[in-house]
Amino acid sequence: MRNKASEGRIKLELPASSINEGFARVFAAAFAARLDPTIEEMADIKTAVSEAVTNAIVHAYPNGAGVIYISARIINGDTVEFVIRDKGEGILNVKQAMEPMYTTGGEDRSGMGFTIMQSFMDKVSVTSHLGKGTRVRLCKRISPRAAGGKK
Ligand SMILES: Nc1ncnc2c1ncn2[C@@H]1O[C@H](COP(=O)(O)OP(=O)(O)OP(=O)(O)O)[C@@H](O)[C@H]1O
Ligand SMILES: [Mg+2]
Repeated sequence: MRNKASEGRIKLELPASSINEGFARVFAAAFAARLDPTIEEMADIKTAVSEAVTNAIVHAYPNGAGVIYISARIINGDTVEFVIRDKGEGILNVKQAMEPMYTTGGEDRSGMGFTIMQSFMDKVSVTSHLGKGTRVRLCKRISPRAAGGKK
């Protein structure tokens, strides 16, 4: 059941290490569950949040130490919003960074993280300042199901 009482913002802070990446996925899933998403919508949200968190781990804090700040809230009663922030290296050219297959990560990376976020979420916005950090905002509308039925 959807109700207004569930509309506060929830925050999570994670040390930027790949061992913590699973917390971000579980957090995203637990929060999105409030809007009763389909399994597919849930998978999309977990993947998109995970891509943003992985970027913070890999690119924002290449030397290891750092904190990732994640917040989640519901907008308009039907849309989940996640904000993933870091205080790491920042991105020189955000438009270029968001192009498919653009990567500074060498052969280990395919440069598809932002493209995946854009295909799985309704809205992706990125702001970044060199030497200060990056903020990624992801939104997805979850369409309501008919009572007891499928969407
Ligand atoms: N949080 C961040 N801090 C600093 N740079 C970032 C951050 N997120 C992304 N970038 C930059 O944007 C580029 C593109 O990111 P994207 O996620 O699309 O691809 P990737 O991480 O390089 O590869 P993939 O996600 O496919 O493994 C990165 O290579 C990096 O240069
Ligand atoms: Mg990436």
